[in-house]
Amino acid sequence: MWKPLERVKYEPDPGLWPTVAEASNSLLFSPVKLGCVTLEQRTWVPAMVPWRATEDGFVTENVLDWYERFAKGRPGGLVIEATGIRDVPSGPLLRIGHDRFIPGLRELADTVRRASEGHTKLFIQCIDFLAIRRRPDKAKFLRQFLAITDEHRAKLFSEDIEEVKIRELLMSLNDQQLDDILTTRELEDLRIGYREKVIDVQLPHIKNLPHVLPELFANAAERAQESGIDGVELHYAHAYTMASFLSRLNNREDGYGGSLEGRVRLPLEVFSKVRERVGPDYPVGCRYLSDDCITGGTTVNDAMYFGVQFARAGMDFLSLSRGGKFEDAKQPKVGEAAYPYTGRSGYECMPAHLSDEFGPFGRNIEPCGRIRRMVQEAGFETPIIVTGGIHGFNLAEQILNDGNGDIVGAARQSMADPDWFRKVHLGRGEEVRLCTYTNYCEGLDQKHKLVTCKLWDRTELEEPGINFSSDGKRRTTAPEWVE
Ligand SMILES: Cc1cc2nc3c(=O)[nH]c(=O)nc-3n(C[C@H](O)[C@H](O)[C@H](O)COP(=O)(O)O)c2cc1C
Ligand code: SF4
Repeated sequence: MWKPLERVKYEPDPGLWPTVAEASNSLLFSPVKLGCVTLEQRTWVPAMVPWRATEDGFVTENVLDWYERFAKGRPGGLVIEATGIRDVPSGPLLRIGHDRFIPGLRELADTVRRASEGHTKLFIQCIDFLAIRRRPDKAKFLRQFLAITDEHRAKLFSEDIEEVKIRELLMSLNDQQLDDILTTRELEDLRIGYREKVIDVQLPHIKNLPHVLPELFANAAERAQESGIDGVELHYAHAYTMASFLSRLNNREDGYGGSLEGRVRLPLEVFSKVRERVGPDYPVGCRYLSDDCITGGTTVNDAMYFGVQFARAGMDFLSLSRGGKFEDAKQPKVGEAAYPYTGRSGYECMPAHLSDEFGPFGRNIEPCGRIRRMVQEAGFETPIIVTGGIHGFNLAEQILNDGNGDIVGAARQSMADPDWFRKVHLGRGEEVRLCTYTNYCEGLDQKHKLVTCKLWDRTELEEPGINFSSDGKRRTTAPEWVE
């Protein structure tokens, strides 16, 4: 993972924990409405992909265990991981792109309801993503994958030479010479790996995205509703299709790019179709970025505009993340695919303990506050969910008191200790197992390996019935907590 130059080392610092009375009187543990649904408390576990589905995208026992464990901590809201809306193979990522996925998702919804004793509302994050390939071997790329163009021929002064010879000529060039012959995009395909972009309108299926995505998202939302899941979160964040439409890098000229209005058009059309399908009484919101955190990307000013548009359109909540883009990702090794959390924007998405002067905690608070104020000034009360490095009651409460957010999200802290909100609520904050923000879990995610927390393997190993990962080394769920 990318690290800031300063490399200042931070320890988790939750501050003082509240007494039961203080917690009971707090904003954090007060209810909030998301459209027609009420969260009992303003605590939220954002989406985290744990790579536990079957290769065909079905819910497994491991998936049920993962969400059951979070539900036992009774957060106000719990979001099911990014779940694919298309009926295409996507490895062990959950899917909702066909009715055959409904029974598994229904079991998941029942499990969460049972484990939280009805206290937690369950949402599902619906995602679309474009194709990405592994970084190719140089020889294979130049001999097979690269399409030889007139431009290459002209630059090599080889108009009349047969293609195979041109390829051999390219093979004989060093990196610097290739820089002069290949286009920026071809160099990217060679050095990072081929990746489809929403601006590739020369590809019919990319050009067509605005026509197919509203229906695909609407179908997925309808299945979520049928499965008994309490609401839908449209994934408009990070490195994926919808965030790429919102990004300033989207220069499509078909009315779905360029200006702010053009970039937000498809996300609004998707929402409108989803709303039409699920009706007014079913909570639908989105997760999007307060800042792309990349050169030339979307800034908080754009995100303020998007927030108002989403609120005006009738979204029931806005969950804000930041960064997590492909554009500044680290070059993968040959044979591996780029991972969007390896550059500075990745760091902004999941800030770790080696940080800069600001530190890893609460980097998203100020931008969220600006977005919330803009939404409110426009006359909307749409709840804003703030996430990023939050692991203490005082900071959470301060976010709410200062008007920088309405709901507090904690992803890694909730993984480290799924009972933490409950412990704090019961005045037992001292018992919270604190996330160290060293991103062991994120490393597993990068390799698409079953995600676990390193802290789970340090205590209560004699607990009966513990499940371990296939290598027998890691427990698959957090230690139990007896109230
Ligand atoms: C293992 C892992 C998987 C994640 N998967 C998703 C995901 O599916 N969708 C999403 O929007 N964010 C995902 N995230 C980002 C988190 O939701 C969250 O925004 C980020 O970790 C920062 O919050 P935190 O500091 O509370 O952990 C993931 C994070 C981790 C650590
Ligand atoms: S592995 Fe555990 S302690 Fe480390 S960052 Fe992830 S959740 Fe936090």
